Amino acid sequence: MAGEKIILLGVNHKSTPVEVREKMALTAGYEEPLQRLREINGCKEYYILSTCNRVELLMGREEIGRFGWKAGQWTLKVQTSKAFRMDMGLSSKLMGPAWGDCTPVQTKCVEAPSGERAWKGGREISEDVIAKVTAHVVSLPVPQKRGNEAEGEQIFASIGCSACHTPSLPTPNDGDVGAYTDLLLHDMGDGLADGMVEASAIGSEWRTAPLMGLGRLLEKNMPLLHDGRARNVTEAILWHDGEGAGAALGFTNLNNAKRKTLLRFLETL
Ligand code: HEC
Repeated sequence: MAGEKIILLGVNHKSTPVEVREKMALTAGYEEPLQRLREINGCKEYYILSTCNRVELLMGREEIGRFGWKAGQWTLKVQTSKAFRMDMGLSSKLMGPAWGDCTPVQTKCVEAPSGERAWKGGREISEDVIAKVTAHVVSLPVPQKRGNEAEGEQIFASIGCSACHTPSLPTPNDGDVGAYTDLLLHDMGDGLADGMVEASAIGSEWRTAPLMGLGRLLEKNMPLLHDGRARNVTEAILWHDGEGAGAALGFTNLNNAKRKTLLRFLETL
């Protein structure tokens, strides 16, 4: 669920004023400056690289992942670069090289011609393209709710669906968004496990799928769950096991009328 973010801070001896450089000059011992960094920063690890003409400060910070099936990516830029690499086989500065997920022993694949060009920053997809695609994704509108099914929403909460599919999340500008996810990982049991470890997520852990926009998926008969195994909402719910087992049981215990009301509510999302 978490990713490592590395922050590098250095000062240029040609352009940095003497007063700033004096503050970064370490004369004796690193223990005290490292201790001060730990107190103010919230970073996990620090390295100070100090030579006669250069001081660099490297900080490793754990970031919470929010993007991807297993919440393995911590920014949209990383998610976008990873999609270019893993879904389309195109390299970028962040996720290069061009041979993507071939292993070093697959020499033919590693040596195959690629579209890496110097004018694109040495990779197939330039930083500029990554920035533009990321900005486009950020600008996409949030799917709007398509109706009101208050009783169904109440059933959704009463059988425990909203414990993970949190109806609303705060946004940075003091608003909220009806995402119906907590963006957190949950162990969904062996039936849904893919055996893949990603960042700190194990095979059976998945990020709660956002249910906003679900109505449109259903309208188009789109398959559900991470591998598209569920043909409809009922199947998707019945696959919930592990931490989701209680809610799935709550669903099977509903009478026919209540089940239909719940499904009608899910179509409004
Ligand atoms: C313990 C947390 C948890 C609870 C409780 C829970 N869910 Fe989920 N739900 C998830 C996770 C995680 C996924 C993604 C699983 C996957 O893709 O394999 C998911 C996926 C889904 C999906 C598929 C969405 C898609 O776009 O593919 C639907 C529909 C859904 N849940 C509905 C419900 C309903 C209805 C309830 C209550 C009966 C419920 N869930 C309770 C965690 C939970």
